[in-house]
Amino acid sequence: MSAGSIVAGCLAPHPPHLVYAENPPQNEPRAECGWEELRWGYERMRKRLAALNADVLVVLSPHWQTYIGTHFLGVPRFDSKSVDPIFPNLFRYKYGLDVDVPLAEAICARAKERGLVTQMMRNPDFRVDYGTIVSCHMTRPEWDIPIVGISSCRSTAWYSVEVMQEQALALGQATREAIEASGKRAVLLASNSLSHRHFVTESEVPEDMTHEHIYNHSQYLWDMRLLDHVRAGRGQAIIDEMPEFTVQSVSETDAGALTWMLGAMGVPDYPGEVHAYGTVIGTGNAVVSWVPPEEGASS
Ligand SMILES: [Fe+2]
Repeated sequence: MSAGSIVAGCLAPHPPHLVYAENPPQNEPRAECGWEELRWGYERMRKRLAALNADVLVVLSPHWQTYIGTHFLGVPRFDSKSVDPIFPNLFRYKYGLDVDVPLAEAICARAKERGLVTQMMRNPDFRVDYGTIVSCHMTRPEWDIPIVGISSCRSTAWYSVEVMQEQALALGQATREAIEASGKRAVLLASNSLSHRHFVTESEVPEDMTHEHIYNHSQYLWDMRLLDHVRAGRGQAIIDEMPEFTVQSVSETDAGALTWMLGAMGVPDYPGEVHAYGTVIGTGNAVVSWVPPEEGASS
């Protein structure tokens, strides 16, 4: 068996509005349009990933929150309906997804060897969170390859961004080792927005784009600073500045997904390709892919 590899790492944000505006058959509510820049950015990223022949998507979601360690989906198949608790008017999504349980178990075991508290989630009636579903749907709407689902253990909330990063980097190393040993070609998805201050009232027509704009200039500047590092290939600077970025922009990077993904990729010193930046209810969202040079990075 040849060695497995991470063929791409992606920043794949999960606002349910994006699935709503795509009108896939799985989602009940119907939209007229909306958030085109981000949706078309995802479309560009899908084209970029198509040639990489991935066997599995590995996703870490801020909305699967576990308070005793990191958990992994551990059931081969889930079929149910996901309803966004904040936006049930936009996201009532009937999903069916396959899980690569052996790879999940391998990452779980290697993370435990590195001192992390881990657990396999074996409840067949578990409802998969909308962060996992939206990021996977927007990256690969065909749902034709299995996923590995990883929870967020909330160590930023319990301790600090620094503790979160230490754990997320260890989880990234474990993820990389398990993928290499598996012989599979994996795409990693960091399911999170960047700046995360958002509107507190919804416009009458959610997809009325006359209401959509950046909420806060200073947080926008933080997003641009981070994306400047992405575009220049300064992965280590992203890690180094993560504590200040996360606090100053109340970012969903607090969940550790971006640190985990960058760590698993060896902290890239090559550029990420920014397919889109746009806001959803004022939050900053970037769709980005890092493709290692040996896989044919285009940047
Ligand atoms: Fe979120």
